[in-house]
Amino acid sequence: MEEMALLPVFMLLLFSSSCHCQSSHDDQLTQAKPLSPGDMLVSKNGSFALDFYSPDNNNTLYMVIRYNNMAEHSPVWIANRVSPITMTPGGGSAKLAITNNQQLALSDSNGQTLWTSSTTTVSTTTGGGAVAVLLDSGNFVLRSANGTVIWQSFDHPTATILPSMKVVLSHNGQVATRLVPWKSINDPSPADFNGSIDPNSNLQFFVWRGAQPYFRITFFSETSVFNGGGGANSTSVVVDTGDDVYFRYTVPDGSPYTRVLFGPQSGTMSLQTWNNSTSQWTIAGFQRPISSSSCDLYASCGPFGYCDTTEATPVCRCPDGFDRIDGNNVSRGCRTNEELICGMDGCRRNEELICGMEDPFVNLTGMRVPDKFLHIGNRSFDECAAECSTNCSCTAYAYVNMSSAAGTLAYASGCLLWTGDLLDMGKVESSGQNLYLRLAGSQVSVAARYKRTSLKILLPVVACLLLLASVALFWTCKYKGKQQKKKTEKREMQEYLRSMNEAGDNLEFSFISFEEIVAATDNFSDSRLLGKGGFGKVYKGVLQGAKEVAIKRLSKGSGQGTEEFRNEVVLIANLQHKNLVKLLGCCIHPDDKLLVYEYLPNKSLDYFLFVSTRKHVLQWPERFKIIQGIARGIQYLHQDSRLTIIHRDLKASNILLDREMSPKISDFGMAKIFNGSQPEANTNRVVGTYGYMSPEYVMGGAFSVKSDIYSFGVLLLEIVSGLRISSPHLIEEFSNLIIYAWNLWKDGKIEDFVDSSLRETCPLDEVARCIHIGLLCVQDNPNRRPLMSTVVFMLENKTTPLSTPMQPVYFACSDPQPEKADDNKELSINDMSLTAVEGR
Ligand SMILES: *[C@@H]1O[C@H](CO)[C@@H](O)[C@H](O)[C@H]1NC(C)=O
Ligand SMILES: *[C@@H]1O[C@H](CO)[C@@H](O)[C@H](O)[C@H]1NC(C)=O
Ligand SMILES: *[C@@H]1O[C@H](CO)[C@@H](O)[C@H](O)[C@H]1NC(C)=O
Ligand SMILES: *[C@@H]1O[C@H](CO)[C@@H](O)[C@H](O)[C@H]1NC(C)=O
Ligand SMILES: *[C@@H]1O[C@H](CO)[C@@H](O)[C@H](O)[C@H]1NC(C)=O
Ligand SMILES: *[C@@H]1O[C@H](CO)[C@@H](O)[C@H](O)[C@H]1NC(C)=O
Ligand SMILES: *[C@@H]1O[C@H](CO)[C@@H](O)[C@H](O)[C@H]1NC(C)=O
Ligand SMILES: *[C@@H]1O[C@H](CO)[C@@H](O)[C@H](O)[C@H]1NC(C)=O
Ligand SMILES: *[C@@H]1O[C@H](CO)[C@@H](O)[C@H](O)[C@H]1NC(C)=O
Ligand SMILES: *[C@@H]1O[C@H](CO)[C@@H](O)[C@H](O)[C@H]1NC(C)=O
Ligand SMILES: *[C@@H]1O[C@H](CO)[C@@H](O)[C@H](O)[C@H]1NC(C)=O
Ligand SMILES: *[C@@H]1O[C@H](CO)[C@@H](O)[C@H](O)[C@H]1NC(C)=O
Repeated sequence: MEEMALLPVFMLLLFSSSCHCQSSHDDQLTQAKPLSPGDMLVSKNGSFALDFYSPDNNNTLYMVIRYNNMAEHSPVWIANRVSPITMTPGGGSAKLAITNNQQLALSDSNGQTLWTSSTTTVSTTTGGGAVAVLLDSGNFVLRSANGTVIWQSFDHPTATILPSMKVVLSHNGQVATRLVPWKSINDPSPADFNGSIDPNSNLQFFVWRGAQPYFRITFFSETSVFNGGGGANSTSVVVDTGDDVYFRYTVPDGSPYTRVLFGPQSGTMSLQTWNNSTSQWTIAGFQRPISSSSCDLYASCGPFGYCDTTEATPVCRCPDGFDRIDGNNVSRGCRTNEELICGMDGCRRNEELICGMEDPFVNLTGMRVPDKFLHIGNRSFDECAAECSTNCSCTAYAYVNMSSAAGTLAYASGCLLWTGDLLDMGKVESSGQNLYLRLAGSQVSVAARYKRTSLKILLPVVACLLLLASVALFWTCKYKGKQQKKKTEKREMQEYLRSMNEAGDNLEFSFISFEEIVAATDNFSDSRLLGKGGFGKVYKGVLQGAKEVAIKRLSKGSGQGTEEFRNEVVLIANLQHKNLVKLLGCCIHPDDKLLVYEYLPNKSLDYFLFVSTRKHVLQWPERFKIIQGIARGIQYLHQDSRLTIIHRDLKASNILLDREMSPKISDFGMAKIFNGSQPEANTNRVVGTYGYMSPEYVMGGAFSVKSDIYSFGVLLLEIVSGLRISSPHLIEEFSNLIIYAWNLWKDGKIEDFVDSSLRETCPLDEVARCIHIGLLCVQDNPNRRPLMSTVVFMLENKTTPLSTPMQPVYFACSDPQPEKADDNKELSINDMSLTAVEGR
């Protein structure tokens, strides 16, 4: 009863606090006049306000500084974030007051103190006369009677950094400021993230998630809010005074409201400006991480891997001289819409280091330098290089100019050295550093190696003679070595092929010389480039001046190592089917692996299927023919060849089209061969393309012919709908193409599912049957999926009754992003799709 009576009073208080009535508000708090709920302070020119705030309009109150008169409640500072005021019925009132000993104190209605401006109790100075003023900058300053600043909110940032605020990041080598985001927009309590300077180097800022590094911002090797790269015409400095390292940014007069926000819940840091016409905060330029599901997070690409953020979608890559180690660590958080780009456990050297003073260093440009460096000031570039190359435990070095990037750091320049594995490297736009990474001695040509030795100290003539002699000697050895290596590799491969192809019979397959391929592709000219994939580039070539071929050059840093290469060569050389792409030959060169295929002029299925201007080329008869062709090709792989072959990476871009628009399955780099007796297998290396991978494969790494059936089902639904499995946002209300198909099919609304460019002309019964078969193929339980021979039969015999597919559940409930995105929009889409599914 008492509570009921109090509620209207409380509501009134809240109402008056959010109403911007004509009454002019004070900007000062004096000892005589404490601030109570319902009152507020407003800065002189009206830009900031300080008042009590109840996020959920429940009876919890916090004291905040916020932008005044802003459509969106945007707090910039909070006092009692861990100890909210609970309005209790009966007696007293909460208040913010200046105490006799010149402190600010916030107390609740019972008179219990919840927050004070100073944690140490000051000896009571009853002098009085202290005043607290809310300034136009958003700073709340407590001054003593003689004007000395006793306390100011700018010295205690919470999750927002305002322009002109001096943020002392470290003091005497200790972290001085730790920013902590709100748990959510409505809950100011500390989230599980925190951000602070790295006290070991004073040269970078770390954001932690719990006790793990989440991401990292260096002050010198990337543009960020710390070095004026935040956008919004901001300028910023990081200053090392010896005792303190502080950070400050400013914006020109007359700029819109600007803030650096350490985002609620997500740990995202960004520089934002208020857009007065849309009444929204917009990201001004700087934001980290780029996305919570990209490789932009700490060490996402594993040791020696780097996240290439210059790509539209950041991807993990390996430096030259390294091969990728595929892995299945999906929790690394590197997945784009379409491809599982992580599942990379890092990179390994092609050749082990055997330390020598003449080890070459590869020059990686535009890099965010790795973590855990040793910084030595006071060195020239040459001294820095020497420091690293003469020390076997040094794996990399960089020489950075810090004055150009980040204000006045203690050292104008710096020599950075690394030992052991390199973690959290990134390729960044323009601002990155040159990073020199040690390679094994034999990897770089002798010319490059000799550039590094200090011939300057020798008599030039002697040096020249020596150089000439060694060059000659080296090349002789190297040439012999190369020849030898090539011969052995070729012999090995032939033996391998022979052993696979027991009968040793008519392989239409040849070894092609590297020179021939160089001639056929104009030395890998860009004008000949047909496509580019994770495993390398594909060129169009003309062999012997006449025969058109497609040449796949496996990139050195690609995951397709020698094993995958053999795999593909052996497999395709053995397979002959009109729906499989034909391998004509291969070439093994010490630095290159090349595959030569028949040339298919019409590119791949995705080139037509998903592009609105080309869709119409594939009318229903063509699409049905393509579905049947793919099915026959897979049937051959699974059942009709001598081996059981699981392709493992069926997707639209791996279906090539010939002149007659007949499909040809390509890319056998990931395929696995089985003996008939072994129906399924497990792998701890989940590779493939997200969306096409079956639940049991994604979850447990279990794959069988039924995983290919699943991928085929997805492909079939894509062909019918013209929608990509990886573009769920194209379908409103449904999280995923499969769920969408299932719901429309169940409700008999198949025409809604069909690609709009076909809708008028296609025979609905045939389309319905295809969707039905597709749904049978994508069932969660692999045992319920039909074999490919059954699929082929079902496609050909249009009157055979079909069983009813089970409702797909797995991908309906699992979030395709490994990390929960903070973005409200995304959450609401997910909520929507879940309810939509449950509601039916
Ligand atoms: C108030 O003053 C601050 C600091 O001088 C300035 O940045 C801001 O634009 C002013 N706001 C208004 C509404 O005049
Ligand atoms: C101003 O007052 C503070 C305490 O209120 C005192 O510590 C300080 O010495 C005073 N400064 C001057 C110049 O009087
Ligand atoms: C009021 O809302 C805040 C923020 O969501 C929450 O932390 C608090 O527990 C709520 N209090 C009550 C009494 O519900
Ligand atoms: C804050 O960061 C430190 C690392 O500096 C970490 O050990 C700690 O667990 C983090 N605290 C919270 C609450 O996340
Ligand atoms: C930056 O300054 C220029 C010149 O004053 C102005 O035209 C531009 O709008 C400003 N950009 C932003 C984001 O404020
Ligand atoms: C505000 O948003 C509108 C609409 O998005 C845009 O056209 C305008 O350029 C924005 N203004 C500023 C100052 O960014
Ligand atoms: C923003 O818009 C409000 C009215 O919508 C206006 O009063 C205010 O002056 C504008 N501020 C700026 C900086 O344009
Ligand atoms: C996967 O990666 C995360 C983050 O890098 C790491 O914490 C975890 O231990 C890894 N898990 C495995 C099984 O390697
Ligand atoms: C590394 O490459 C960059 C860019 O090409 C160049 O400016 C720099 O001089 C190179 N470093 C050395 C030591 O050659
Ligand atoms: C830097 O170099 C100067 C002159 O070469 C020397 O006096 C000084 O001790 C050096 N400082 C450090 C930290 O090595
Ligand atoms: C080589 O580098 C390591 C790590 O920086 C260091 O501990 C060691 O003293 C160095 N050795 C020499 C001979 O400089
Ligand atoms: C560092 O960069 C600044 C600004 O670009 C330049 O003035 C300075 O000479 C550079 N210092 C060195 C040591 O290269």
